[in-house]
Amino acid sequence: MSSFPAYRPRRTRRTPALRALVRETRLAVDQLILPLFVCPGQGVRRAVGSMPGVFQTSVDELVKDAREAYELGIPAVLLFGIPERKDETGSLSWHEHGVVQEGVRAIKGELPDLLVITDVCMCEYTSHGHCGVLHGVSVDNDRTLELLARQALSHARAGADIIAPSDMMDGRVATIRRVLDEEGFSEVPILAYAAKYASAFYGPFREAAESTPQFGDRRGYQMDPANSDEAVREVLLDIAEGADIVMVKPALSYLDVIRRVKEKTGYPVCAYHVSGEYAMIMAAGQLGWLDVERAMTEALLSIKRAGADMIITYWAREYARRQR
Ligand code: PBG
Repeated sequence: MSSFPAYRPRRTRRTPALRALVRETRLAVDQLILPLFVCPGQGVRRAVGSMPGVFQTSVDELVKDAREAYELGIPAVLLFGIPERKDETGSLSWHEHGVVQEGVRAIKGELPDLLVITDVCMCEYTSHGHCGVLHGVSVDNDRTLELLARQALSHARAGADIIAPSDMMDGRVATIRRVLDEEGFSEVPILAYAAKYASAFYGPFREAAESTPQFGDRRGYQMDPANSDEAVREVLLDIAEGADIVMVKPALSYLDVIRRVKEKTGYPVCAYHVSGEYAMIMAAGQLGWLDVERAMTEALLSIKRAGADMIITYWAREYARRQR
């Protein structure tokens, strides 16, 4: 490499056209996934206080949001359900006519080309708010696997295009893959929340999904933020069990993990720019402390630069509108 004055890095920064020519990273709208929250009822559209621009909607309103995303060129939505009622085992999570199952049917009926991804987890459906069934005060891993597979199968039967388990039980990818294959859904991919950390940045989501644990926390099953060797092991395990796409979550505090996972596996990597990461920027924007559009674009670009192939973001529609 040459040095100053032969090399002047500012030469290629002088104009927008020059900057575009040498730009290394681009984030396209067709690499974004929009999360949506579906609840019971008709004509329901409830704002989530800590996430400006995010709503809990009934199925009819959900289809409107999905249509808007589709028309903006966003290829996929990710559905979370807020059920009619919760119980110990989260039994509404695998109900044929549960909120997510009905949401999938409605979207696929009207927008067959929009990919519908479903989050598979128990925490929105259990009365205690944990991601599986309890044995005493801890989550019983192996009993939970069967229920997760039942939930995943009900989503596939409703027409889900991709199944995304987020529970962090050991062995869930293998169990879900086996059940999907046995029931004729061998072509439905699994997007595994492979390296999912026990993070403070999920706070606003738990308001949106009404899934705050009623006691304790999720550190008994989600990952310790201090670990990244373990993240690689988690990801390799999920790949060995049949994951097609692997996820790192949250994104911004874990950019190093995204990079390691990408380099180590060469698999498609999805990053989840989570609720707290979204809320921080939106809140600072409301206070006039930073420019939301520039900050959000910079955050998303950094996730892409770290090695993510696709990003789940609550800002997907805004990003798409600004690209037009
Ligand atoms: C369910 C789940 C969570 C998120 C996605 N799936 C919450 C949690 O694990 O507590 C968080 C998403 C976000 O914060 O945007 N297990």
